[in-house]
Amino acid sequence: MRSRFTFLFRQKLKLQIITTSLTGGLVAGYIFSKYKPIVHAETDISVKVGERISTLPTYSMTEVAKHTTAEKGYWLAYKDGVYDITSYVENHPGGKMVLRSAGKALEACWKIFTMHDMDHVYEILEEYRIGNLPPGIIIGKALLFGKENNFLGEREANQREQEKITDLFQYDPERLNIKENFFVRSKRPFNAETKPSVLISSFITPVEQFFVRNHMHVPFVNINEYKLEIGNGKSTHSLSFDDLTEKYQSYTITSTLACSGNRRGAMNNEEQGTIRGAPWYVGAIGNARWTGVRLRDVLQSLGLDKEGKYVQFYGLDCETPKR
Ligand code: HEM
Repeated sequence: MRSRFTFLFRQKLKLQIITTSLTGGLVAGYIFSKYKPIVHAETDISVKVGERISTLPTYSMTEVAKHTTAEKGYWLAYKDGVYDITSYVENHPGGKMVLRSAGKALEACWKIFTMHDMDHVYEILEEYRIGNLPPGIIIGKALLFGKENNFLGEREANQREQEKITDLFQYDPERLNIKENFFVRSKRPFNAETKPSVLISSFITPVEQFFVRNHMHVPFVNINEYKLEIGNGKSTHSLSFDDLTEKYQSYTITSTLACSGNRRGAMNNEEQGTIRGAPWYVGAIGNARWTGVRLRDVLQSLGLDKEGKYVQFYGLDCETPKR
């Protein structure tokens, strides 16, 4: 079963699959509000990444640039390090987007996707280390023949090239009172959990205080062109926003919504090390009133309710090529 939702639809339609009320989470929120949480900032980095390792071979940026296919392997450079990430591509949480940096220097990309600025991400990258860039390539302004030149090393030229990547996060909506309401887990994509003290201040968590979970920038949706795609592998149907609102009855329910990774941060310890993924404390949870059409009604009307047992949802917060 394949479907695509706008953020709005996802919020509305999720009500159809939420069968268990997790209000207990809010009680837990109260208990945890007594404790000072460990806040994982994006900048507290202790891992040494991209530093020269004298025992490894040297590869030029020209050599790195040749490795941009599955056959030749996917290579990239970060600081002074050269990496072969071929076997990591399938496991990358951000999917094939990692290939944007194949054959290039990674810095410009991670300057935009700042959630990579974490120890465990650097540790992963170092696992794929194969070599060093040639020494002395970082030149910047150099004195050549007694004259100052804006001489660029290969790697800097490459990095500049990548800086032309459009930063789609810049169009994310303005978020108000962030410090008051949230612990921010990553800025790009924006992931933030509601502070326990805020959670327990009302039974229904107000929208502007509800936890935010994004996997990319906030998607751009033109509601007049929007189509919800639903399929079962054999056939695919698509419904417009008007189809959904006019052809089906709308319902409102009150339910708790929790991120399945809520409290993941508590799993970080000396034995287990750092668990991958947003290090939520207790606040990736909230109560809300949800309004939307029933998934069951939609599936029945399309004749898709007979065979399938599971529904898989795809959000629009994956790579969207255009605004
Ligand atoms: C052009 C380069 C890259 C882009 C555009 C990119 C994009 C992304 C995106 C969009 C996510 C968020 C996924 C989600 O929240 O569902 C992500 C997560 C992640 N990426 Fe990348 N990525 C790139 C390169 C890399 C590289 C080279 C590595 C390591 C070898 C890497 C490791 C990771 C890890 C570990 C996460 C999960 C972070 C977490 O724990 O929350 N990425 N990436």
